[in-house]
Amino acid sequence: MKILVTGGAGFIGSHVADAFLATGADVVIVDNLSMGRRENIPQGARFVEMDITSDAFTQFLLDEKFDHINHHAAHMELRVSVDKPVHDAAVNILGSIRVLDGARRSGVQHVTLASTTAVLGEFLHMPATEEHPVNPIAPYGVSKRSMELYAEYERLTHHMSITTLRYTNVYGPRQNPHGEAGVIAIFLEKFLAGQTPIIHGDGRQERDYIHVSDVALANLIAFEQRVQGTYHICANSAASVLDVVGYLRTALGTSCEVHHGPAKAGDPARTRGSHDAYTARTGWRPIVPLHDGISSTVAWFTQRHETST
Ligand SMILES: NC(=O)c1ccc[n+]([C@@H]2O[C@H](COP(=O)([O-])OP(=O)(O)OC[C@H]3O[C@@H](n4cnc5c(N)ncnc54)[C@H](O)[C@@H]3O)[C@@H](O)[C@H]2O)c1
Repeated sequence: MKILVTGGAGFIGSHVADAFLATGADVVIVDNLSMGRRENIPQGARFVEMDITSDAFTQFLLDEKFDHINHHAAHMELRVSVDKPVHDAAVNILGSIRVLDGARRSGVQHVTLASTTAVLGEFLHMPATEEHPVNPIAPYGVSKRSMELYAEYERLTHHMSITTLRYTNVYGPRQNPHGEAGVIAIFLEKFLAGQTPIIHGDGRQERDYIHVSDVALANLIAFEQRVQGTYHICANSAASVLDVVGYLRTALGTSCEVHHGPAKAGDPARTRGSHDAYTARTGWRPIVPLHDGISSTVAWFTQRHETST
């Protein structure tokens, strides 16, 4: 099996590449390294530095003739998408169209797309199922929703085999601590550097955190079972920022300080998704409890911090 992982030098894509390599697949990674890092690229994968918005990428897909494309390359900073909607749309809409168009024209068997529960906008009921209304409130959610709609068009019109997986808040080793998303990685990096992270608001806002190894397995299953349609990949449990800080303190064995700042405008009080549909369809369910996942994430970041200082 010849498998392409776009964004495979990034956080989630590199774990997905690991999962496919473990099955003995021939894995190729395309990434422009705008956010990804060479050290994330798993041994055994072939790396091609390329931009998914380029004509060269379309030609690459036609030449290589992959069996499967797993699409994780994206612009994914929600607040940046507000300031730079053209860039966000170029990568997330036009780049994704290139993936789908190239996949169809080169005879790819199955495509899996990484989407986000940010397409839902404000959570009106929880846990949010796939029937939840879709009302994205930032360009990032709009561009990801556009990708989903292009996928539905390809599925209906050209009978392409496509899974779209919407994640909640993914965390784990290799997450970029310098982005705007990923409170666990951001706080952890600050604690290890002896700095004091700022909690926006009282810290009681709750999020649905899912470990990256569970997400990688969901991607593997999407291909193996040729799952069709859109599914939520989440833990169906909610933890507050204060809970996360508590787990980080326990794992680090120190009472790290935090400061509180003003709440961010538009920050929802609570988000939580339902994975019941994907569990019913595939048998997949998340297996890493948050406190265990945070412990192993702390171990990874600590080791990296020690080797870099
Ligand atoms: N991290 C999360 O909590 C989360 C939640 C929901 C959805 N997602 C989705 O999962 C995917 C991966 O997210 P991540 O957290 O691993 O982010 P990431 O930034 O670590 O990975 C994205 C990768 O895409 C690459 N990339 C960006 N633009 C590119 C381009 N034009 N051409 C080629 N490569 C390009 C980056 O260099 C990076 O390596 C994204 O599609 C994101 O929208 C992530």
